[in-house]
Amino acid sequence: MKIRVFENQLEAKTAAAEQIADSLDGNSAKLVCATGGTMVEFYREFCRTNQDRAIDLRGVRFFNLDEYYGIEMDPALPEGKDQSFARYLSDNLFRPLGIDVDSQVRLVPHREDGLEQYRTELACSGGELITILGIGKNGHIAFNEPGTMIEDSIRVVNLSEGTIIDNYKANFEAFGYSFDEMPRKACTIGPREILSSNRIIVLCFGKTKKHAFEQAVFGTIDASCPASYLQTHENVEWYVDSALLR
Ligand code: GLP
Repeated sequence: MKIRVFENQLEAKTAAAEQIADSLDGNSAKLVCATGGTMVEFYREFCRTNQDRAIDLRGVRFFNLDEYYGIEMDPALPEGKDQSFARYLSDNLFRPLGIDVDSQVRLVPHREDGLEQYRTELACSGGELITILGIGKNGHIAFNEPGTMIEDSIRVVNLSEGTIIDNYKANFEAFGYSFDEMPRKACTIGPREILSSNRIIVLCFGKTKKHAFEQAVFGTIDASCPASYLQTHENVEWYVDSALLR
């Protein structure tokens, strides 16, 4: 495991974006993409780097890391009203980079065969599997909440109360949704798929993530902190800021 410490978030996100973009240039790869507040600026830097350096992403397929259950992307809705992670990736990554629909693999758990199709696509050959993660305050990665077992795979899960509240306050509330409208379930790839990646990049910043980070990196490897499972992988890079370590 490598821990790369930066003075601030922007420096860390820029370094991660440049590193990933360079490694994708002209290569075949599968890139599994997280969402969340942390990732917005990272994707902005990633798009900028790709444009500045004319990175060739034609061999890359992009995968949604997770998705709310029951929410389907609706391009007719204004930005923000559509809270699907598919829309988030479309707005922050795919449209700015001009990624065509055939190169995007979404999680659509409520459709018959939705998960099976995703599983098949992820297992297909196509170069390195690179997963980009954020982390929840309770140590979740993707939507693998505390209690997740290391061998758990792609599945529909119940969200914890803390995650529902955090994500409501961070996203849904500002767009006029009531707390009752907040999804209670989601679909997520599991530790099994995450740990099958060739390379895992985790972005983790700020005081609010300190406890989760310490448990994930220095704590016991167990279900109380699913991010601790990353200790079992040989190629994990953490990008953190100095505020996290203070
Ligand atoms: C959601 C996502 C996670 C993400 C987490 C942290 O729960 N499912 O993939 O890591 O939020 O988000 P933020 O970056 O906003 O703290």
